[in-house]
Amino acid sequence: MREVLLKANREAGKHLLEPHTLKIHEKSDLFALVTDMDVRTQEMLRDAYARILPEAAFLGEEDMSDTPAPGQLYWLVDPIDGTKNFVHGLMQSCLATALCKDGEALLACVYNPWNGEFYFAEKGKGATLNGRPIHVSHRSFQDSMAATGQGYGNREETIRRIGPLWEHCYIHCRGLRAFGSAELSLCYVAAGRLDGYLEQAIMPWDYLPGNLIIREAGGVATNWKGELPSPIGMDSLLAGTPSFHKEMLPLCKDS
Ligand code: IPD
Ligand code: CA
Ligand code: CA
Repeated sequence: MREVLLKANREAGKHLLEPHTLKIHEKSDLFALVTDMDVRTQEMLRDAYARILPEAAFLGEEDMSDTPAPGQLYWLVDPIDGTKNFVHGLMQSCLATALCKDGEALLACVYNPWNGEFYFAEKGKGATLNGRPIHVSHRSFQDSMAATGQGYGNREETIRRIGPLWEHCYIHCRGLRAFGSAELSLCYVAAGRLDGYLEQAIMPWDYLPGNLIIREAGGVATNWKGELPSPIGMDSLLAGTPSFHKEMLPLCKDS
């Protein structure tokens, strides 16, 4: 499965690197963007995945109209995670996929077309980056590098709730980053480059693939109550090494 998914993601990701006049549209509000390339990439992945597993349903961020039956496999796809980075030419975006059943990710991949990094995990079988096993770091909280995202929740509520968590990381960790792609940030945690990730309001296609990759790499991923994040609707996210998660969970619960 790793090889066929890599091929499909390489094909679909290739055209993002080509010169193109982007058509940019606002979605629900003026801060949420979608481009013609999000839609085209999703269509390419949908076609490729239908050839790989014809029996699976397909849900994509830009088209959630399919309804998987109970027990049916379905693909959950974010065709471009980091759309604003893409629009701004920042080369920090990826294609993210989870193959799920009844709300649980069984297999996941995240592909960055700008550097060819391909993260892959299968439930119970570990996580890899370009075919090599990866593991979360063993850094202490003090030595850790945290990352965060701003998301699409209500901005006043987001800053009120997440502000104190950023403050805690900023004061007590090595550093705090915001890369603009939740999935890449989660994969960086899985690969031991980062140590934790926090976001207040985030959607399942932004975290189901990355969460499986983190767990298979020895990390922990929950919402701010310490529960499994929702497989269908907006939720909070706290993911990281076991020690990062342990340090931040009580603060998240209080926020
Ligand atoms: C967004 C990015 C961002 C995160 C948001 C996501 P999009 O995804 O992952 O880093 O903070 O919550 O919605 O809109 O670029 O696919
Ligand atoms: Ca996303
Ligand atoms: Ca997206």
